[in-house]
Amino acid sequence: MALSSTLRINELSADERAVYAALRPERLPQHVAIIMDGNGRWAGRRSLKRFLGHQQGAKSVQLVTETASRIGLPWLTLYAFSLENNLRRPRAEVNFLMRLLKTYLESNVQRMMDNNVRIRYIGRTHELPQEVQDKMQWAAEITARNTGTTLTLALNYGSRSELVDAFRSLSAEMKQKNLSMENITEEDIHRHLYTAHMPDPDLLIRTSGEMRISNYLLWQIAYAEIFITDRLWPDFRGIHLLEAIRDFQGRERRYGGIGETGGEVEENADRIRIVAG
Ligand code: FPP
Repeated sequence: MALSSTLRINELSADERAVYAALRPERLPQHVAIIMDGNGRWAGRRSLKRFLGHQQGAKSVQLVTETASRIGLPWLTLYAFSLENNLRRPRAEVNFLMRLLKTYLESNVQRMMDNNVRIRYIGRTHELPQEVQDKMQWAAEITARNTGTTLTLALNYGSRSELVDAFRSLSAEMKQKNLSMENITEEDIHRHLYTAHMPDPDLLIRTSGEMRISNYLLWQIAYAEIFITDRLWPDFRGIHLLEAIRDFQGRERRYGGIGETGGEVEENADRIRIVAG
C-alpha cells in the first residue's frame, strides 16, 4: 500500500483526476509491467524515420512514470530493450537505442528526483556498452534513496535467459551448501530471479494491439491481469495508465480459485452442480 505522504493527486491533469476519482485507491495494483510496443508504426504512419518513434516513446516513459509516481504506484517495470531486439535489429537502430537511453538518463534524472522516483534495471545489462552501463549506474546511485515509485527498465532482457541465470545461480548456491537440486521450491527459484526484490506484477499492459507476451516476465506474470490496447506506445500517456488500472479494478482475480462470485458448490450422489451465486 502506498503511503499517503507519497500521493500527489493534485499534480495530476484535470483529465487524469477525473479517471483517478473513479478508482479505489486501496485497490491500486502494487506492480504494473508494460510491454512498450509500436514506436516504429507510430513513426511509419507519419512517414518519419523509426528512430523518431523511439524518441517519442522515451517521452512517454517519463510522462507515464510521473503519473505513476503521483498516484503512489510502488513498482513500474518497462520492457525497454529485449535480448531479441539486441540480436535481431539492425546495428544502427540498436546503437540509436543505446544513445537514446544514455541521453534519457542524463536529461531525466532531475525529474526523477523531483518525482521521488528510483531507477533500477533488470536483464543481462553487463553485455551493454560500457558507457551505457556507467550512465545507468550513475542514475541508479543518484536516485537510490528515493522512496516513491521504483521504475525498473528491462534492458537486454529476456525471460528465458533470466530463468537460465536463476537456475545457474541456484545450482551454484545448492552446490556450495551441499544441498540437492531435487528439493528446490518455487521460493528458491523466486529468490534467484532478477525481480527477487519486488512483488509480481498485478497488471501487464501491452500497447499497439499485439496479443503476445514476447518473452517478458514469464514466471512473474503467472497471475497478472493482462490489458492490451491498440494505442501505440508514443501516444500512451498517464491517463491511459489510469484507464488500464480502472479496467484492472473491474476484474475479479481468482488465482485459480472460484472467486467471490463463483457460486456455491453442491454435491450430490452422481454429479457436482455449480449454483450461481
Ligand atoms: C517497440 O517499438 C519498442 C522498443 C524497441 C523498445 C522500447 C523503447 C523505447 C520506448 C524508447 C526508449 C526507452 C527509454 C527508456 C529511453 P517497435 O520498434 O518494436 O515498434 P513496431 O513494432 O511498431 O516496429
